[in-house]
Amino acid sequence: MALNVSSACFSVFSYKKVIRIRAVASEDFASAAALKTEEESKVKLGGSELKVTKLGIGAWSWGDNSYWNNFEWDERKLKAAKAAFDGSIDRGITFFDTAEVYGSWLSLGAINSETLLGRFIKESKVKNPGVEVAVATKFAALPWRFGRQSVLNALKDSIGRLGLSSVDLYQLHWPGVWGNEGYIDGLGDAVEQGLVKAVGVSNYNERRLRDAYEKLKKRGIPLASNQVNYSLIYRAPEQNGVKAACDELGITLIAYCPIAQGALTGKYTPENLPTGPRAKIYTPEFLTKLQPLLNRIKEIGKNYDKTPTQVVLNWLIAQENVVPIPGAKNNEQAEEFAGALGWRLSNEEVDELRSLASETSPVIGFPVESL
Ligand SMILES: NC(=O)c1ccc[n+]([C@@H]2O[C@H](COP(=O)([O-])OP(=O)(O)OC[C@H]3O[C@@H](n4cnc5c(N)ncnc54)[C@H](OP(=O)(O)O)[C@@H]3O)[C@@H](O)[C@H]2O)c1
Repeated sequence: MALNVSSACFSVFSYKKVIRIRAVASEDFASAAALKTEEESKVKLGGSELKVTKLGIGAWSWGDNSYWNNFEWDERKLKAAKAAFDGSIDRGITFFDTAEVYGSWLSLGAINSETLLGRFIKESKVKNPGVEVAVATKFAALPWRFGRQSVLNALKDSIGRLGLSSVDLYQLHWPGVWGNEGYIDGLGDAVEQGLVKAVGVSNYNERRLRDAYEKLKKRGIPLASNQVNYSLIYRAPEQNGVKAACDELGITLIAYCPIAQGALTGKYTPENLPTGPRAKIYTPEFLTKLQPLLNRIKEIGKNYDKTPTQVVLNWLIAQENVVPIPGAKNNEQAEEFAGALGWRLSNEEVDELRSLASETSPVIGFPVESL
């Protein structure tokens, strides 16, 4: 009997052990699968060691009342921006792009976008301690800033606002009127001082891009990225040599305004115009001319059960070596962006959309591209 009891105990014990082993095995399998998915969903930024999700989120509108948000920033918009951040994290998008000038201190009532992003990261760490967020921010090449030290000073201020000990990607927001050599030296110093994992530029033309790449290469530092305006209706990087140079040198092209500030989502029409400064760019005439392209985007999307926003973002991702960073103001927009990942337009569709888009004259870009 005693034997029976002890053997019963043993069998209960061993049963539990089997369950535990099975549980451990399935946990391992699940975490291995999650790791694999994470690996697959990320790309290395240029020649750097930094890995980011194939799509990032732009945070320009967070806290801003100079271009976005109809010149007003309030509690409701703050909650929506936080929901955009949380919604992105929940869907596995962990790369965020901000800048020291977003939500600029120059405009009354605005909150700096870096400050907000830092706050959102801190709050989210409580719920998701294991999630690694990759933060990209930018140095404003203002004419009164000179030399390498100005880059380090601005970076340290950004790090302070973000509440972090370093940032993942530090970019020169635009080329300076002067002082560019010093700015590149400053980027290199930032890497060597462990303040950043990777460095990039933004709005750099092909010549400037090659020069920056060579200068950093001499110090053994890869230029990871060039952030430029690139979308189906703004394909200047394909025409001015920037995209080809990025591909040749192994520099990731980060695409800003990838949904043409909402114009490519199909939401804005000649009857439903955007408000604020966007109304001057996306005029009724422009939106009328855009309709045939938008209709085809919608048709293609239906075949994949995808929205126009997801199609135009997928079109960019399909170019290879391109990471789009659409701006999300709320959870719904972030959710829609996540649906741009995990599938691919066919090459025929990619070409067809490019050729249809070439019938629409592009909107005016950011003039700093030609500095
Ligand atoms: N380096 C540079 O010089 C530079 C310049 C510009 C931008 N950027 C970066 O690139 C990021 C993205 O560019 P962007 O924000 O100017 O333009 P965008 O990503 O092309 O458009 C974002 C806007 O589109 C609308 N939208 C977003 N999701 C939508 C959806 N699912 N359906 C309908 N409308 C939607 C939102 O405005 P509404 O809801 O109000 O329509 C949102 O603010 C910026 O946040 C910033 O990080 C960098």
